[in-house]
Amino acid sequence: MKTFDTQSVIAVIGAGAMGAGIAQVAATAGHTVLVYDNAEGAAEKGITNTAKGLEKLVSRGKIDAETRDGIIARMRPVNELDELADADLVIEAIVESLEIKRSLFTQLESICKPDTLLASNTSSISITSIGAALKRPENLAGLHFFNPAPIMKLVEVVSGLETDPQVARTLHQLATDWGKKAVHAKSTPGFIVNRLARPFYAEGLRLLEEGAADHATVDALMREAGGFRMGPFELMDLIGHDVNYAVTCSVFNAYYGDTRFLPSLTQQALVEAGRLGRKSGQGFYDYREGAEKTAPATLDDDNASAPATITVEGDLGVLGALVERLRGNGTQVVEREGRGLMRVGSCTLALTDGRMATERASQDGIDRLVLLDLAVDYSQCTRLAIAHDQRVSADELATVTALFDQSGIALTRLDDVPGLAVMRTVAMLANEASDAVMQSVCNAGDADRAMLFGVNYPRGPLAWAETVGLDAIHKTLINLQQSYGEERYRPSRLLRQKVFAGERFHD
Ligand SMILES: NC(=O)c1ccc[n+]([C@@H]2O[C@H](COP(=O)([O-])OP(=O)(O)OC[C@H]3O[C@@H](n4cnc5c(N)ncnc54)[C@H](O)[C@@H]3O)[C@@H](O)[C@H]2O)c1
Repeated sequence: MKTFDTQSVIAVIGAGAMGAGIAQVAATAGHTVLVYDNAEGAAEKGITNTAKGLEKLVSRGKIDAETRDGIIARMRPVNELDELADADLVIEAIVESLEIKRSLFTQLESICKPDTLLASNTSSISITSIGAALKRPENLAGLHFFNPAPIMKLVEVVSGLETDPQVARTLHQLATDWGKKAVHAKSTPGFIVNRLARPFYAEGLRLLEEGAADHATVDALMREAGGFRMGPFELMDLIGHDVNYAVTCSVFNAYYGDTRFLPSLTQQALVEAGRLGRKSGQGFYDYREGAEKTAPATLDDDNASAPATITVEGDLGVLGALVERLRGNGTQVVEREGRGLMRVGSCTLALTDGRMATERASQDGIDRLVLLDLAVDYSQCTRLAIAHDQRVSADELATVTALFDQSGIALTRLDDVPGLAVMRTVAMLANEASDAVMQSVCNAGDADRAMLFGVNYPRGPLAWAETVGLDAIHKTLINLQQSYGEERYRPSRLLRQKVFAGERFHD
């Protein structure tokens, strides 16, 4: 089987945003990289742009001039496809069209050596489908880099139906040698990242559409409680609504209209209006000169004083870290037996289980119930979402707010929606990851790694679900499904199996 070393010649076809970046990655790893683009001068321009980017790294002292010169010297523009005959691996990063990609790979098969590996950087086209046009589909795989390729760590190595598993393993090793975090994925719509990330946007959009909170508030919660680098709305604004909406529609259609991937009418309207996000000056946020920044909604304690003592009844699970934080900030904690509740003044606090506060207060016979959202780290978070039943008065809420203020946690009240913000998002991310694992799209480790390194999530969704407790995640999903009466929230069969068997995704 083919092996690669720095003597192996890499060819990159398409010298646009992705191709130039991929060529830079391979040249940095020491390969000679042949760069071909069918637009006149585009290969040279791609290399010139790379040189400019490297120049900035030199001026910041990140690399030396000799390294820069070596990388650029190894990137060689070529004018004809025929000049790629000696390539050991060809990576295609051209226009996203099945027909054009098929025709390119068919030509390459007659130009390159029989054992040359062929790879596509496609984001959305089936590798099986591209391979169907080839004489040697076993030599073709997806090598899906993320933008910008020199910076983003993840590479999805995508196997079509006919891809030789050894080819996938070789490409995985090569990407790893190039300093990337490689994961294996079966060719299915969205591969891993573009599929598993859908709920991050979808649940945010749903909260907005239901009037639970505005976009700036949801973003602040996902950052400050969820630990995500950006909230869904600022991220969609950055990606561009045209691009993000197109990916959602493509995944939704590819899964034959599965409602878990349902596109949002709110986002469609932004696209129709040309409010594409940062690039057009307006999306959910206004980026135009002088525009005011939208602030997240935060509860005021109205000068109420924090209670000196709270009571913790039973095991609070992940909320234990929050109790420790309150204790560390001077609150006395009385502990007694019970069913995992916190008493603060006349209110009862609990972690959301996917029911509305009103619903849970009525079903469990709890008066004045305040539900708390999930945080990635209760010992550090600076904001937390709450929802409460209608009997909680303004004064009682101010007392709870003062308690959290004292520990540096701003409270944000959401309308009484089931599963609040972070919890429902994490539950849905884990649910999608569980389905992908069940369907052999990837293994659990790769599902988590893909989200950590492809979209910088603070935790892999499955590992995160395990820290919350798979049982709690499962209950949240069942309750969301009950609240909405929608298939969208149905728990993944594999997740259910793990819960009932008392197993985990990770050992
Ligand atoms: N932009 C992203 O964020 C991103 C991320 C991951 C994957 N991708 C995928 O990477 C591929 C390229 O995307 P991009 O954003 O770099 O596009 P781009 O438009 O920036 O660049 C494409 C380049 O390919 C050239 N090209 C088009 N048809 C060609 C052909 N038949 N032969 C040779 N060259 C040809 C064009 O001249 C252009 O320079 C697509 O398949 C896309 O889905 C894009």
